[in-house]
Amino acid sequence: MDESAICEAGRVLAGGGLVAFPTETVYGLGANGLDEEAAAKIYAAKGRPSDNPLILHITSVEELPFLAEEVPQAAYALAEAFWPGPMTLVLRKTARVPYGVTGGLDTVAVRMPSHPVARAIIRAAGVPIAAPSANASGRPSPTKALHVLEDLDGRVDMVVDGGTAGIGLESTIIDVSGGRPMILRPGYITEEMLSAVVGKVELDTAVTGMLQEDIKPRAPGMKSRHYAPKAEMTVFLGSPAEVCAAIEEALGRAAAAGRRAGVLCTEESERFYDAPVKKCAGRRNEPESVALSLYDVLRAFDREQVDCIFSESFEESPLGGAIMNRLLKAAGYRTVRCGRISSFRGQNAGLDVHWQ
Ligand code: TXA
Ligand code: MG
Repeated sequence: MDESAICEAGRVLAGGGLVAFPTETVYGLGANGLDEEAAAKIYAAKGRPSDNPLILHITSVEELPFLAEEVPQAAYALAEAFWPGPMTLVLRKTARVPYGVTGGLDTVAVRMPSHPVARAIIRAAGVPIAAPSANASGRPSPTKALHVLEDLDGRVDMVVDGGTAGIGLESTIIDVSGGRPMILRPGYITEEMLSAVVGKVELDTAVTGMLQEDIKPRAPGMKSRHYAPKAEMTVFLGSPAEVCAAIEEALGRAAAAGRRAGVLCTEESERFYDAPVKKCAGRRNEPESVALSLYDVLRAFDREQVDCIFSESFEESPLGGAIMNRLLKAAGYRTVRCGRISSFRGQNAGLDVHWQ
């Protein structure tokens, strides 16, 4: 770790500037989380709507009562189990947390990252750090410093390169601000892991399926199209064999229509496709590798100038819920069902594509 870079990052943050830095989930775009003006720079740099709240990053549980009122026992139990790590708690905010950070909400999202560079930078700044993912609003989250520069070069004071993020998907968000704990965004910490600590947890509609026009998600950032590549994307649901056959058929149709198609596949399936562009999101039998390369692959399709993307699906593993959540949002819920789907939660929520 470059100590002088860490000190410099701390100085920039304490002075109200913007620093992008690695965390174990994705890269974050940091600013002083108690300074409304500094936070406003995050919204400007990302082009993020001002009603979409930020997550405050801390390095010790002792900071929690400073930011959150009436911290319930469940919050401490979850913090004890999963912090530092890829879990964000939503709690009732104290008066110290500006509304300019919470998008006007009376709740605040707090996370304690485990990445050593993130922790060192937060400590050097000496304040809680507000940090959304360091992408332009609506784009796939950055898992490498290069992705941050693709979106935000010239718009931030400093980018700290800490190599590739470890997990590749954003933190699990769990609302413990009242009533039964509720997952607002799935992530590496799964429903099963959370309920082992606090008992049964609820799932927000943003997790279970496509948002209806008239239902507001509890996490304002979970609106439908998000993490999106530029090309139209369709996710094929079903068993790997059914999906593979249906994508091959779709490729034939795209070729006949003169459309340049890309396939989002895995190392196991790549050889089955005859496609202008193929991108492997890791290995199907190692779901962690899919999570880690998903956003990189979505960004790579943009460089290939494809007209459409056909994606395999990843329902089966515990991490599959988080992977499918991001994939379906990237696709704006355009799906093709290729067979019987037994376990997928969002199955009633897709906008089915019917081929002519
Ligand atoms: O892994 C992560 O969480 C990354 C790294 C950088 O820590 N951060 C991240 O931040 O993903 P962002 O801003 O891209 O996503 C934050 C999500 C948004 O969907 C936002 O609406 C939700 O958290 N959120 C923040 N505060 C909230 C609150 N008080 N109530 C409900 N949802 C909240
Ligand atoms: Mg984000």
